[in-house]
Amino acid sequence: MNRPVMEGMRLNVPAHIKHQRLVAWVAEIAALTEAESVYWCDGSAAEYDRLCEQLVAAGTMKKLNPELRPRSFLASSDPSDVARVEDRTFICSEKQEDAGPTNNWMAPAEMRALLQTGEQALFRGAMKGRTLYVVPFSMGPLGSHISHIGVELTDSPYVAISMRTMTRMGRPVLDLLGEDGAYVPCVHTVGAPLAAGQKDVPWPCNKTKYIVHYPETREIWSYGSGYGGNALLGKKCFALRIASTMGRDQGWLAEHMLILGVTNPEGRKFHVAAAFPSACGKTNFSMMVPPQGYAGWKVTTVGDDIAWIKPHADGRLYAINPEAGYFGVAPGTNDLTNPNCMDSLKADVIFTNVALTDDGDVWWEGMTDTPPAHLIDWQGKDWTPAIAKETGAKAAHPNARFTVAATNNPVLDPDWDNAAGVPIDAFIFGGRRSTTVPLVTQARTWVEGVYMAATMGSETTAAAAGQQGVVRRDPFAMLPFAGYNMADHFQHWLNIGSTLGDKAPAIFCVNWFRKGADGKFVWPGYGENMRVLEWMLGRVTGTAQGEDNVFGVSPRYDDLRWDGLAFSRAQFASVIGIDKAAWQQELALHAELFQQLEYHLPAELPATMARIEARLAA
Ligand code: OXD
Ligand code: MN
Repeated sequence: MNRPVMEGMRLNVPAHIKHQRLVAWVAEIAALTEAESVYWCDGSAAEYDRLCEQLVAAGTMKKLNPELRPRSFLASSDPSDVARVEDRTFICSEKQEDAGPTNNWMAPAEMRALLQTGEQALFRGAMKGRTLYVVPFSMGPLGSHISHIGVELTDSPYVAISMRTMTRMGRPVLDLLGEDGAYVPCVHTVGAPLAAGQKDVPWPCNKTKYIVHYPETREIWSYGSGYGGNALLGKKCFALRIASTMGRDQGWLAEHMLILGVTNPEGRKFHVAAAFPSACGKTNFSMMVPPQGYAGWKVTTVGDDIAWIKPHADGRLYAINPEAGYFGVAPGTNDLTNPNCMDSLKADVIFTNVALTDDGDVWWEGMTDTPPAHLIDWQGKDWTPAIAKETGAKAAHPNARFTVAATNNPVLDPDWDNAAGVPIDAFIFGGRRSTTVPLVTQARTWVEGVYMAATMGSETTAAAAGQQGVVRRDPFAMLPFAGYNMADHFQHWLNIGSTLGDKAPAIFCVNWFRKGADGKFVWPGYGENMRVLEWMLGRVTGTAQGEDNVFGVSPRYDDLRWDGLAFSRAQFASVIGIDKAAWQQELALHAELFQQLEYHLPAELPATMARIEARLAA
């Protein structure tokens, strides 16, 4: 142990903690980072309130008007720290082939030298002048056989309070860990040490960023960012990247999927897990309000972003939502697109990078048709509709977020916290595609479903730093989140499927985003997606009809229910149709992906492509 601890820096270990390995690790990281003090989070409401006050005093957050938005805050990040940084995210497996061609890779020893062990290692002294918060958390219901525990050491109180909302965090987790329980160690620093007497900034961070995963030793090290998935390490880093490698080794799945419950008027309940890339409407779909004509149908939310799915003794797949809160994209959310979400956001919310109204509330693009006459934008500048017209300035950052507890959701599924999970009837995969991909298609076999998921493409969004609106392949909506070789992920899905037999969930591919010649979305989306969902459930029970197309089965116009919606046959044809030329081009892109993933690529996938090619040519 090096200097600060030897000099007797207080680790402040609470008396109830008996886990010597955990204490030794905290001491080691405190010494490496030269944190000024150590604080063990208990997850209590009093602690949350105290840290919120501290963040307000530091200028990181503003308290919103308690009459309009009780117990809620607005945090404003540094303008350079607004999204996940995929180009700074690394999978440091011993062998590069295990990270695969879609991940950034560095040898673990080389990365450790850079971050931890080298003379100039970034984590050395990185927490000087700051408190190290020990944040114990459970991903999934406490004690569930599907759940796993992590401990995040962070120098960001904003991260500590966000983790309280996003996970089951605090004392009960430490109790569960006992004397020797297993946990995934997660180390996070904003990378902005303070010299003696140096004044802090409201949102400390560093230009240099590293979001690093060691899959073999199941560790996460994150440097330089305080935002979202870069910093709340339970979410993408643990629940997807590290958990996907645990799932590969242990025979389960960690997926970028919402989970919803659907109850039909006869009272039969189904559970569906759906994968969409970031900012493509997972939260909206998981809280959907069935449209007119669907009296008696109920949609409830189990999860909005991540699913951990395990085979059960009854032969079916069961899923839990490992998270306990929503870190959702605010812009575009309103009383029409997602009224249940708007209800969830009435109190006890931390907003980040939305705009502030003159009466101390929040606003974002799309919240209302008419924007307020004056706002303070996400960067603290005056904003008016006239300024926006002239400069194009957005009031809220396009990746502005809300952080809110799942328990705020008025349509939370009664089983959302069920330790056994919920049985999955269907998987849905969907990208954001203006052309080519039909509204809905059912895979005829598990292999065809894996093909659909593997070849999914989507137009990029503001959730990740970088160019937006470009189509990229996003297999399983996991491109930025797979902790191991994507081709091995395909094989893992094929392996799981082969054990399920007739208990395998049905697999569907959807696209809500096809545009017409006028550049507008043709399909109305949101609650109207219920019509497609009803058809999918009808396929599960064997009551809905469809027709074969080149890569699955799609409904004809009369196979969907249209009560309460004016949507013509011609409009339907334009969202369901398969354009031969577009599909020939699409298949060329699938072939490119397969070439990139050639090493380890399961033979079933090119064989499925060959069958589609043959059908297209016929
Ligand atoms: C998210 C994302 O924050 O996918 O959920 O980016
Ligand atoms: Mn996500």
